[in-house]
Amino acid sequence: MREPLIAGNWKMNTNLTEARNLVRAMLGELDGIAHVEKVVCPPFISLPAIKELIKGTSIELGAQNMYFEDKGAYTGEISPLMLVDLCDFVIIGHSERRQHFTETDEIVNKKVKKALDVGLRPVLCVGESLEDNEAGRTDKVITGQVQAALAGVSSTSRLAIAYEPIWAIGTGRAATGKQASATISLIRSTVVSLWDNDTAQAVRILYGGSVTSSNIAEFIAEPEIDGALVGGASLKANEFVSIVNQTAAIKSTQ
Ligand code: 13P
Repeated sequence: MREPLIAGNWKMNTNLTEARNLVRAMLGELDGIAHVEKVVCPPFISLPAIKELIKGTSIELGAQNMYFEDKGAYTGEISPLMLVDLCDFVIIGHSERRQHFTETDEIVNKKVKKALDVGLRPVLCVGESLEDNEAGRTDKVITGQVQAALAGVSSTSRLAIAYEPIWAIGTGRAATGKQASATISLIRSTVVSLWDNDTAQAVRILYGGSVTSSNIAEFIAEPEIDGALVGGASLKANEFVSIVNQTAAIKSTQ
């Protein structure tokens, strides 16, 4: 049985004060919810402060990105060795990084390898564009992204994968539970073919894209979907708490 995982990707939102306030507003309730792994991913500069705030609670911390080198002349980048003392998780290959910062499959692969090497837990993001979706290329694109990202990566259940169709991100147009579940099954089969069945069964695969407290139940009701990577709704304390609460309730009955 995979423990469900709900991660909030705050993206480039919240200054230090806002980040602290957001965590304070949900800390008590979130901490009380059992059997769901709860992760918040604030901007880099807030990681140390949030680490302090969540100390001793069941809430975990993630970064939104990292570079694949340990140190050196890479102005503006953040090393995995800087993160490893601060957080457990790191989002890798988000479609916004692929689109706006020209991250290729090759870079994503290097980052996944490096994150695992230093002891971080990567949340690898994959997702197809609207154009690919409408042209019926979803399966091909997703399989290709998973294979490329995991090329040469040793099998591990410390990896999580988030299926985030680009057309569903920030649009209010979420996939349906059935659509997401079908693609997530395909992702798991791809992981089986790269690694082995036991490991693939242990890897958590999440859905992301316009998840809110109003539609989370539809995704979580699908046994193949192990949680969610939540963007906009993770910036509202009551929304995020409700998403985690519903996940705990529904998964406990499966
Ligand atoms: P939204 O939930 O705002 O659509 O963002 C999803 C996302 O990109 C999470 O990584």
